[in-house]
Amino acid sequence: MKIVQVSAEVAPYSKSGGLGDAVAALSKALAAAGHEVWTISPRYRGVAPDAEDTGLLARIPLGAWEHGARIFREDRDGVRHLFVGNGMYDRDGLYGDANGSFGDNHIRFALLAQAALHAARRFVGDDVVFHCHDWQGALLPAYLKAYWRPLGHFPRSGSVLTMHNPAHQGRLPPSLFVDLELPARWFTPWGLEFYGDLCLLKGGILHADQLTTVSPTFAREIVTPGGGFGLEEVIGLRAADLTGILNGVDPDEWSPTTDRHLPATYDAEDLTGKASCKAALQGELGLPVAPDTPLLVSVGRLDPQKGVELLADSVPWLAGEGCQVVVLGSAAAAHKTFEHRLIEAERAHKAQVRAWIGYDEALAHRLMAAADLFVMPSLFEPCGLTQMYAQAYGTPPVVRRTGGLADTVEECDPWTGTGTGFFFERPSGTALRDALWRGISLYRSDRDAFDLARKRGMRRDFSWGARVERFVEVYERAQAVRSG
Ligand code: ADP
Ligand code: GLC
Repeated sequence: MKIVQVSAEVAPYSKSGGLGDAVAALSKALAAAGHEVWTISPRYRGVAPDAEDTGLLARIPLGAWEHGARIFREDRDGVRHLFVGNGMYDRDGLYGDANGSFGDNHIRFALLAQAALHAARRFVGDDVVFHCHDWQGALLPAYLKAYWRPLGHFPRSGSVLTMHNPAHQGRLPPSLFVDLELPARWFTPWGLEFYGDLCLLKGGILHADQLTTVSPTFAREIVTPGGGFGLEEVIGLRAADLTGILNGVDPDEWSPTTDRHLPATYDAEDLTGKASCKAALQGELGLPVAPDTPLLVSVGRLDPQKGVELLADSVPWLAGEGCQVVVLGSAAAAHKTFEHRLIEAERAHKAQVRAWIGYDEALAHRLMAAADLFVMPSLFEPCGLTQMYAQAYGTPPVVRRTGGLADTVEECDPWTGTGTGFFFERPSGTALRDALWRGISLYRSDRDAFDLARKRGMRRDFSWGARVERFVEVYERAQAVRSG
């Protein structure tokens, strides 16, 4: 099959969270299974400086201007990566900066969608599956239907939209609709209009041939009241075409046996290297090098989604219980208070707590390896990758039982010798502390049982293997709609 992934992020070129990892790893796995896989994403500032100029310069009218989309290409791991070059992407930040989201994001991602269609026609052919991701990719099905298919292009090509995070919808003032260069009937409840607003994700939900989201549990939650962040009724209209497929982990990027970011590697047979990683990290961060002190870490966007409030509330308690806590993360302009709260916690508990504010890929790897417990108290979580990385690195996760977390963690039971982590149910500090307490207690009272739990996590299969087949089935259904 010929597949074009249309995404705002493709790791390692661009990444702000799991989207970049998920699209990159899926593309690689599809290519390894013999498919012809292309990705197309913006050439943000500094991205792919050595990519080759393909010579294609698509001219795309949007709003008052005709925008140029120059297409660059770089091949990696069997995947053909295309990048759209335009001055609108050449900024600090992917979607916004210290002043908030960029005001022209709808134009930036309309350009991505139209550029993908131009590039597919030139380089891939007419028989393509367009796999679009999140609100930034959601305009492609609209352009495909409004302009390309009526002109006879892509007659057999289907489109698939994956919702990684429907809390982000590209919901904007209605006045911006004219910039998208779509016929007026697209600004109705059967298109991109939603309660008077412009909603880019909604257009994709209604007009993609197939829909997926990133875990089976989230596929059920997304159509319950509030589960789709207001879009649950719209998603419900397409329930028959929605599939929940778990994300996987790319072992070339996330494996403690080969990880180039670690001071020592290790595997499920021998955890000696993990102890070295812990000592090295404690030293690096100026914490007491104490092998038996529980080290809890959290890595992620400091966003309400991630339950940062619950985490921040529990840090003084963890310090009081004699634990070390390290949080790596950064917040968007609207949520800077989370950063301040964590910095404050570090100040109050200098000997035990570190708040590392910023984005640091290598440190994220070192933390996964060094930690004894990984904390992820998400209020909602479509899939979540870090809890899978944590298990692969022998770090039992403490998670809320929601979305993909419910599908990828098993509760530890030392009596039966099963499980890989610790769940809590209600989104409250006391519930989180209950699960943290079980984790810390097992670590302190029965290290052998704790190490067995670590090893069970390390031996779990989080690979893309079977998931690739599930996507191929969805792609086939999307194509069948076209040819049927
Ligand atoms: P989400 O996509 O909701 O942010 P995921 O768990 O799916 O959550 O993926 C998060 C990805 O982003 C992981 O690869 C994680 O390591 C990475 N990440 C998030 N914040 C940071 C940070 N501050 N520094 C390094 N990596 C980060
Ligand atoms: C989103 C979700 C996260 C998921 C990631 C990749 O950002 O918040 O749960 O793992 O996308 O699909």
